[in-house]
Amino acid sequence: TTVRIIGAPTDYGANRRGVDMGPSAIRYAGLADQLAGAGVETVDAGDLAVPRAEERDPDAEAPRDGKAKFLRETADVCRRLADKVGGTLAEGDVPLALGGDHSIAIGSLVGSARDAEIGAVWFDAHADLNTPATTPSGNVHGMPLAAALGLGEFAGSDWANAPGLDPENVALVGLRSVDDAEVDVIRDHGFAAYTMSDIDERGITDVAEEAMAEAAAGVDGVHVSLDLDWLDPKEAPGVGTPVRGGATYREAHSAMEVVAESDSVRSMELVEVNPTLDQHNETAELATELAASAFGKRVL
Ligand code: ARG
Ligand code: MN
Ligand code: MN
Ligand code: MN
Repeated sequence: TTVRIIGAPTDYGANRRGVDMGPSAIRYAGLADQLAGAGVETVDAGDLAVPRAEERDPDAEAPRDGKAKFLRETADVCRRLADKVGGTLAEGDVPLALGGDHSIAIGSLVGSARDAEIGAVWFDAHADLNTPATTPSGNVHGMPLAAALGLGEFAGSDWANAPGLDPENVALVGLRSVDDAEVDVIRDHGFAAYTMSDIDERGITDVAEEAMAEAAAGVDGVHVSLDLDWLDPKEAPGVGTPVRGGATYREAHSAMEVVAESDSVRSMELVEVNPTLDQHNETAELATELAASAFGKRVL
């Protein structure tokens, strides 16, 4: 396989500026070398051009229902990212998108599902299932899964809905910060949802295997979305919305090894790395290591 790296340096979807430097930090941390260590060839497609948030009006496109900051800018980036991801797959390579905040997942999912039925595994402290009507923050990085599933305000959207992604092929892993409205969405749609308590009780290998199986059942492939705040802030301090009690270093690697062994990865993204909050780029380094494990790197 050849992995094509696509940078999406956005911070439109997050309230913490600096996450737009994620693609640089992850490359500088040695992503291509790490993937070479996994026996994977890489091509770097560079970064999407993303205008600075300071030059834009966050409320230029107010949703009819509720709030969502920089929605017009997010739509523009996600349309272009979807084209890159879809084009990469059409040419037989595997897309690896680098965020940027988690709003870019809308583009990844729409692109990955362009000519296919897909599943999605969401490694994250958060569920990212808010809509403009339910969001407590107005930050679109709390909404990408809802957007790709066409929930709420996103139902009528021409850019955010991925018809090839169905709720029965979505699995959330590592939840520990879920808003009340998101709890209702999880219950109503019957998502496979695994909290940190499930990981404590069952172990990460068992949980990750079940999550991958749920996501992969009956579809063409799985999109793996890795929000670095899935890990404990002690391991991954460079994120904008840290939540204590996350996955350990070993749990994260074990989960990515399960991802590789599932042999169903269609596309992947690494999001929410914020170098301005990091210590010596260690969160970006961790992102590169975990990507290598997800693409098959082993000690022996
Ligand atoms: N649930 C909160 C919100 O909607 C936090 C979301 C954090 N999402 C993320 N991708 N870091 O604002
Ligand atoms: Mn998160
Ligand atoms: Mn379907
Ligand atoms: Mn997230």
